[in-house]
Amino acid sequence: MAEVNIIAAVASDGTIGKNGSIPWDIPEDRSYFRRLTTGNVCIMGRRTFESIGRPLPERQCIVVSSEREYTGEMLCSARSLREAIEKANAYITENSPSASIFLCGGSRIYSEGLELACRLYLTELDRPYHGDTLFPEFSSEDFICISRRSAETPGCTFAVYERTGNKKYTGKGECSMKLAEALQERADLNRNIAQLRERLCANAIVQENESPAEDPKDLLKELNSSIDRLQELMERINLTNSLVEYEGRTITQLIAQKDCLKVRISAYKSLVSDASQTGHRARMTEIKLLSTVDVKKLQSEIDKMSKELRLLDNTIQSLNWTTELK
Ligand SMILES: NC(=O)c1ccc[n+]([C@@H]2O[C@H](COP(=O)([O-])OP(=O)(O)OC[C@H]3O[C@@H](n4cnc5c(N)ncnc54)[C@H](OP(=O)(O)O)[C@@H]3O)[C@@H](O)[C@H]2O)c1
Repeated sequence: MAEVNIIAAVASDGTIGKNGSIPWDIPEDRSYFRRLTTGNVCIMGRRTFESIGRPLPERQCIVVSSEREYTGEMLCSARSLREAIEKANAYITENSPSASIFLCGGSRIYSEGLELACRLYLTELDRPYHGDTLFPEFSSEDFICISRRSAETPGCTFAVYERTGNKKYTGKGECSMKLAEALQERADLNRNIAQLRERLCANAIVQENESPAEDPKDLLKELNSSIDRLQELMERINLTNSLVEYEGRTITQLIAQKDCLKVRISAYKSLVSDASQTGHRARMTEIKLLSTVDVKKLQSEIDKMSKELRLLDNTIQSLNWTTELK
């Protein structure tokens, strides 16, 4: 059985929709949605499907409707959410064993889906939109926030909630984690650890008869648990990178290739830049400076390598989003 996730953008008053559409347009959120759902199965209610107006490309789309039938390439319908999930699992077993299921709204799909979902990907907006369609309430006893990242768009945060009681990130339970999410969490942890260090140092000494603003014992406890979590993630990221292969090369090898390509491009660029400083240098006698290398040829090699780097980067990025953390 594939894992079931919920993905939604939710305003501070719970709004997800207004008059049949989404009352905001945040390109960064659209690309986050696309990145997470591409290659997976998207289940949505009939009205949401109608508001989008077409099946989402590169995703198997299942529309839930009690009356209407939808068929097409990468498109089908189901009479209930349960039936949609059964169809999604059948599709995944047959076509794409590492794919996940994403419930993409609207509100009834989300309400029913909350019981089944192991993870919620919520883009949280910090202002109300007074809409007519709301995201259902959920309890912090059922879901805890495991990652929160400010988007570049002001007032927008990407939060990930996970069902409590799951064996988090063991890779053995129903819930799993994509490599890209682990990398994001690793970056968040590193930032958090740096802040904790500063807070610890700021509270390391106090004047006689005064107490620190924050208790260093609590901070130390938080620091240690963050570092433990970081260690766990780093071990699993390294393990995943060393096991997962793309066209006969592991992710570790692709990353090494990418890093070395960057070093090579940078060295070539410096050479081209220095070798281009030709012309005349005025001294006691006029000295003519000539390039010792073929600048044009080097530049075309740089262009070729830069293209290779871009492709490699895209490959690694998409592997990150499709690979389950071991
Ligand atoms: N912010 C976000 O992330 C987000 C995401 C998705 C949608 N939205 C917005 O939400 C609004 C649409 O949501 P909505 O709640 O009004 O409608 P919806 O859930 O998309 O569609 C409702 C319809 O889906 C079918 N349906 C849903 N659950 C079903 C079930 N369990 N069993 C059988 N049929 C089921 C029924 O179709 P039939 O009537 O054909 O039986 C129902 O009338 C729009 O404004 C949209 O833009 C926002």
